[in-house]
Amino acid sequence: MFPESSEPWSPLVFAHRGSSRRHAEHTLDAYLLAIEEGADGLECDVRLTRDGHLVCLHDSRIDRTSDGRGRVSTQTLAELDRFDFASWRTDVSESAPWRTDVSDEGLLSDRRGRVLTLDQLLGVATDAGRPMRVLIETKHPVRFGGAVESAVLQLLRRYGLDRPDPERPLQVTVMSFSANAVKRVHQLAPHLPTVMLIDVWSVPSRIGRLPPGSTIGGPGVQLLRAAPELVERLHRRGHPVYVWTVNEPDEVDLVAKLRVDGIISDRPAYVIERLREM
Ligand code: G3P
Ligand code: CA
Repeated sequence: MFPESSEPWSPLVFAHRGSSRRHAEHTLDAYLLAIEEGADGLECDVRLTRDGHLVCLHDSRIDRTSDGRGRVSTQTLAELDRFDFASWRTDVSESAPWRTDVSDEGLLSDRRGRVLTLDQLLGVATDAGRPMRVLIETKHPVRFGGAVESAVLQLLRRYGLDRPDPERPLQVTVMSFSANAVKRVHQLAPHLPTVMLIDVWSVPSRIGRLPPGSTIGGPGVQLLRAAPELVERLHRRGHPVYVWTVNEPDEVDLVAKLRVDGIISDRPAYVIERLREM
């Protein structure tokens, strides 16, 4: 199953929570490896700590991904910093040896396995030595009344990243499953691209009409299996399409057939290799 058109097709490949099949998600190692593997960009979920720091974590609690317990939102950054966010991963599902292969040198080497802030991740992306994109997904925007989006925008503004600049090597996009969050980001930074994430249960899932303020459509690959026509519908309305989480051969083939614009994967190296073979 290969792209049917003869037009050149070269989607962006994003590392989902870093190269998270090979290293523990959202850790420095996972992101450094993704850069080394050639990913065009890094995906990251962000949450607010009790003292207002943005940390790269997916779950509302730290129980699954660390040796600690409790909610992210009730702990300070200093408290979260005591925990190990890497050693919970004992399986090595691909060829890379676990936590051994990245140089210990560098500014952030002491952060290995420890919680990463969004600020630090932006630093990692800036230091990549080549153009890099960061996709920031805000989590639980409703519960915290837009505080996560405000904090993200405040940070981006500090670095002048709240508007796209083609000359700058680092480009940032904010995404969410919440239409309100996307709208809020758009109000705070009208020029910043946004991704409206959509799943089988989302309102725009089949019709492809995205809420105001959305730049890019972000369907899950399972939704595209059920409704492949969505890509064309989004394209017709001028929205690029970034698909998550594309890990298996048939999933890469599907998004290739549909000629999506971005592929978000736990296995960026694998996706890049499979695309190269097409
Ligand atoms: O990239 C979008 C994807 O990450 C959304 O799902 O649960 O992995 O954040 P989740
Ligand atoms: Ca995510």
